[in-house]
Amino acid sequence: MLYSTARKILFSMDPETAHSVIMSNLDWAVNLGLTKLVSRDPVEDPIEVMGLRFPNVIGLAAGMDKNGERVSAFGGLGFGHVEVGTITPKAQPGNPKPRLFRVIPAEGVINRMGFNNHGADEVLEHLRSAAAFRSRGGILGINIGKNAVTPIEQAVDDYLICLRKVYEHTDYVAINISSPNTKNLRDLQADEELSRLLRALTDERKRLSDDCDGKYVPIALKIAPDLQNDEILRIADQLVKYGIDGIIATNTTISREAIKGMPHCRETGGLSGRPLFERSTEVVDLLYGHLKETLPIIASGGVMSAEDAVEKMKAGAKLVQLFTGFIYYGPVLIPDCVDAVAKWRKTQTGAVASQRP
Ligand SMILES: Cc1cc2nc3c(=O)[nH]c(=O)nc-3n(C[C@H](O)[C@H](O)[C@H](O)COP(=O)(O)O)c2cc1C
Repeated sequence: MLYSTARKILFSMDPETAHSVIMSNLDWAVNLGLTKLVSRDPVEDPIEVMGLRFPNVIGLAAGMDKNGERVSAFGGLGFGHVEVGTITPKAQPGNPKPRLFRVIPAEGVINRMGFNNHGADEVLEHLRSAAAFRSRGGILGINIGKNAVTPIEQAVDDYLICLRKVYEHTDYVAINISSPNTKNLRDLQADEELSRLLRALTDERKRLSDDCDGKYVPIALKIAPDLQNDEILRIADQLVKYGIDGIIATNTTISREAIKGMPHCRETGGLSGRPLFERSTEVVDLLYGHLKETLPIIASGGVMSAEDAVEKMKAGAKLVQLFTGFIYYGPVLIPDCVDAVAKWRKTQTGAVASQRP
């Protein structure tokens, strides 16, 4: 009730202004306990994924806290993990505004932000404030990408620069080659390009691990939902071959099939929220059918309710991330999802793994 009033006010603002208002006020609202008026603490439901102990299954997807400024506040809302970024080696402004649009009748969002971020060095400074979250057992992920001005042929260099910078300061790294808003980025998902990238990343990780007293940082790759199914399976095989630790399925879609004729449907960018649920869940299902327990799947895409989160787990996910659902339903979506998934996991034998036949 209270959140629906807050949402009315937020939705009367331009979407990027509403986002800034939330980001600027989140710390004090969480610290004073005001967010408890619209939400509650989730149950404890720890799970081990990628060799890390997550306090619960639900995390914040990349793009909400691009600069890592509010990790502890998001953790205070109940997220078990927070993925910051996408960050790039150098700061960049992103695409011209407007670049964020609500598709209200479909509970969707279209964005073409274009990796606006403060750059790896400054983000690492901000991330000092994530210490409180991490000391409570929260898991920090850093999602990395390439600068817009870096030619695609040199993209690997940008990922390596980011990996080196963040290695000591994160629990896991997510590799974003699936945003539709950086020119040619998705080309890195093609066989040869991907192979080159994965080899470079895993070789570099070996060196970094040796330099950091054996600290092993898991790497997950985030894929697009717009690939053909056979392409997705080829990517999965490459991830296993190179010893990548997880796959995030999926990023936003360039398809407009589900929002034909709706406001903003012609805006370019990635579509998220409810219209993405079906395809992104299908991708989780496809991946699990192929990979079984070989590689954990982190589900992202269209989780708008507790039932949706459970659906992702039933499809084979080990972790579930929220973004657009948080915009439409507010902080209570977090404990709703955590509690529902915890309840579902209890009904499964063997508890830790999802038990899809
Ligand atoms: C405004 C906005 C910005 C985003 N920025 C990023 C980003 O920088 N990196 C990334 O990997 N994904 C980004 N995403 C994608 C989300 O992390 C998520 O994968 C996608 O929105 C699907 O989940 P959802 O339907 O729950 O929103 C962004 C999404 C939105 C709506």
